[in-house]
Amino acid sequence: MLAAVQGFCRTVIEHEGELNRLDNAIGDGDHGTNMARGCRKVLAALPDMDATREDLGDILHHVGMIFISEVGGSAGPLFGTFFLRAGMACHGKTAMEPLDWVRSFEAGAAGVSRLGMSSEGDKTMLDALFPAGRAMQGRAEAGAPLQDIFAAGADAAEAGVEHTKAIQASKGRAAYIGERSIGHQDPGATTIMLMLRALHRTSAEADGG
Ligand SMILES: Nc1ncnc2c1ncn2[C@@H]1O[C@H](COP(=O)(O)OP(=O)(O)OP(=O)(O)O)[C@@H](O)[C@H]1O
Ligand SMILES: [Mg+2]
Repeated sequence: MLAAVQGFCRTVIEHEGELNRLDNAIGDGDHGTNMARGCRKVLAALPDMDATREDLGDILHHVGMIFISEVGGSAGPLFGTFFLRAGMACHGKTAMEPLDWVRSFEAGAAGVSRLGMSSEGDKTMLDALFPAGRAMQGRAEAGAPLQDIFAAGADAAEAGVEHTKAIQASKGRAAYIGERSIGHQDPGATTIMLMLRALHRTSAEADGG
C-alpha cells in the first residue's frame, strides 16, 4: 500500500506540467499544481504512515486527510474523498487480496460521484474511474493476478480519458465553456489514468516482473 501511494505521488509530480497544460485548455490551469502539492505532502508523511501499516485503511485515510486539508480547488476534496472512502473499504485489513483493491477503488469512485454530484459522461475523473473499476472487477472475479487487473484498469482509464475529448463538460470549471470543452481531454481523468499506470507498475515490481 505504501509503495502504491508512493508510486502514484511520484507519477503525479512528474506530470505536474502536463496536468496544468490540460487544465489550462478547459479550466484554470492548476490541476497539476493542486495534485502535486498534495502528493508532495503525502510523500513527506510516508514515514508517519509506515507506523500505521497494521491497518492499510489508515494509510489511505491519512492520504485522504492530507488532500482535504492541504489541496484547494475541486480536486482536493474530491481526491481526498476518493482516498477516505477507499480507506474505509479496507479498514482493518493487514493484507489486500485482488478483490480488496478493486472494492476499495470502486468505493473511492462512488464517493467522488456522491460528493461531486456527478456521473459518467460529465467529462470528469469519473469517466476514467468508473470504466476502470468495471474492467478491474471483471478481471478480479475471473481470478486474474493483481498485475493484470491493474493493467486492465489502466487500459480502461486510458480509453475513458480518450472519450473525455469527445464530450462536453457538464461539471466543474470546464462546464463554463460549454461546447468549447469538446476536443480537450479532462485533466482529472488523466490523473486517474496515471494512478492506474502507477498501480500497475508497483504490482509488477512487487511480483518481481
Ligand atoms: N463535480 C465533479 N465531479 C467529479 N470530478 C470533478 C468535478 N468537478 C471537477 N472535477 C474534476 O476535477 C478536475 C479539476 O481539478 P482542479 O484541480 O483543476 O480543480 P479546480 O480548478 O477547482 O476544478 P474545477 O474548477 O473544474 O471544479 C477536473 O478535470 C475533473 O476531472
Ligand atoms: Mg483547475
